[in-house]
Amino acid sequence: MKIVAMVGSNRKESYNMKLTRYMQNRYADKVEIEILPIDQLPFYNQDDELDPPEIVKEIREKIKESDGILFATPEYNASIPALLKNAIDWFSRVETVLVDKPAMIVGASMGALGTVKAQLQLRQILNAVNVSTSTLPGNEVYVGSVHTKMDDYGNLTDQATIEFIDSVVDNFIQWVEKTVVYESAY
Ligand code: FNR
Repeated sequence: MKIVAMVGSNRKESYNMKLTRYMQNRYADKVEIEILPIDQLPFYNQDDELDPPEIVKEIREKIKESDGILFATPEYNASIPALLKNAIDWFSRVETVLVDKPAMIVGASMGALGTVKAQLQLRQILNAVNVSTSTLPGNEVYVGSVHTKMDDYGNLTDQATIEFIDSVVDNFIQWVEKTVVYESAY
């Protein structure tokens, strides 16, 4: 199973990138996770969408070939960062490669609520008509107070969080398999 990941932070010490890399390693025997370089995307411009920059085409192909998408979002001002929204805007247009892609969402922040508001909005965005990504219901991964749950190497150290994410990833793998069966019924 091949999953692509979109991480909504471009800072070097991003907790969300560390969490995604941690998941990439921990679940390597179950699922291949490739992190997409969405921080390299230019700012979306509708004038360019029919002849987009090469990076848009490259990432679009990777999404197309994937079995599903992992979104890792920080919370910026009670919403998702522009970097992530920008990526969703690019890939929701022309070749609508996000349509019917199974998706799961995680998010980490130092605050207690662990990106609740951002994730609520992300689910709403992914359910928009032009995207209609099939987001895994429930299974909400809010890693609050992340600075107390991760070591200096980006490994999660909080056992309850680790076990919860283990179970969500298993649920997501089943969800992806179910979605593929659903699609092939047409
Ligand atoms: C934040 N942060 C933040 N945190 C939160 O829980 N709710 C919020 O609304 C916001 N708003 C916000 C706005 C902006 C512009 C910045 C830069 C930051 C804090 C944020 O959660 C924290 O910086 C995370 O560490 C960002 O994620 P990464 O970069 O570590 O993945």
